[in-house]
Amino acid sequence: MTKIIRIDPKRPDMNLIKECAEAINTGKTVVFPTETVYGLGSNALDAQAVKKIFEAKGRPTDNPLIVHIAYPVQVDELAKDISPKAKKLMDRFWPGPLTLLLWKKSAVPDVVTAGLPKVGIRMPSNPIAHALLKEADTPIAAPSANLSGKISPTHADDVIDDLYDRVDIIIDGGDSKEGIESTVIDMTAEVPLLLRPGTVTQEQIEKVIGPIQLHPSLFSVYYVDAPASPGMKYRHYSPRKELVLVSSKKLPLFLKQNSKKRIAVVTTVTDKKCHSALHVHLGKNKKVIAKKIFRTLRKLDKEDIDFIVVESIDEKDIGLGIMNRLKKGASRIVD
Ligand code: TXA
Ligand code: MG
Repeated sequence: MTKIIRIDPKRPDMNLIKECAEAINTGKTVVFPTETVYGLGSNALDAQAVKKIFEAKGRPTDNPLIVHIAYPVQVDELAKDISPKAKKLMDRFWPGPLTLLLWKKSAVPDVVTAGLPKVGIRMPSNPIAHALLKEADTPIAAPSANLSGKISPTHADDVIDDLYDRVDIIIDGGDSKEGIESTVIDMTAEVPLLLRPGTVTQEQIEKVIGPIQLHPSLFSVYYVDAPASPGMKYRHYSPRKELVLVSSKKLPLFLKQNSKKRIAVVTTVTDKKCHSALHVHLGKNKKVIAKKIFRTLRKLDKEDIDFIVVESIDEKDIGLGIMNRLKKGASRIVD
């Protein structure tokens, strides 16, 4: 049986946090909110507890997990040979939605990193996540709290849909503030390598440490060669219904041609009414799109429709991360 615990993110009740921390310290699984998406956590230093995460999600064991910490000093227990550039990024962006890949120390069980020599570490800013990490007094390994292959959850209801009865505790801590998963950057490379774009953008990172490289997969939807991050080879973020990504220019004609179909339409830039029974207008503010896109797709996926259309946006700044998730989930791109 999964216990659902409501915690107010503005004033986390310490008795409830203690109960969750105790669960972590006894090898149990706890879903907790972060500023990006909800995470499915267990004690990162307890290999048996980490295995439960893979089982609950149905996640392939060759896909490594991110380790979450309460304070930057904890990095030294987990990683070695940390470059000055990596330290600069921690100073500037932690706590926040940035994951750094660093050379792992032996304290990190192999199951966490899927046998890889690097570990992904991040310090979340969400007050519940922070309080839990502080109280448990151990790093927590946590992937997004969805069933493997499904869209990341940004609300406790979405977690319950996927993981009820598969985990020990689900903390309901309200909506995720950012809405897409953290930016992941490999800091062991000579020139730091961006593996997953997020709301901490390339431009923001380069202002702090100078030029970085973008992984080739970010330029092509169909890239499958030797993934640098095992997560790249799996189809992700897919709703069950077909997802079609359509440019603003092609949208009117596309909708006309498909007028006999039952379509849910998500618009961004296009402000006009669109003649679909199910139309969600997210607007063009990319922060808002990032925050709402996953929940919107999960909701529309439950409707009696043939497919979902999303109007694409430009790939500048946060747009790169948003389009990365949409392209991975799309079965068709009309550009
Ligand atoms: O915002 C986030 O990052 C959320 C919250 C819960 O923190 N977590 C998250 O975890 O999105 P997950 O497991 O769903 O995605 C982590 C990605 C995966 O693509 C994984 O392959 C990659 O990061 N990754 C993690 N550790 C890695 C490592 N040691 N080497 C290469 N890639 C790694
Ligand atoms: Mg995930």
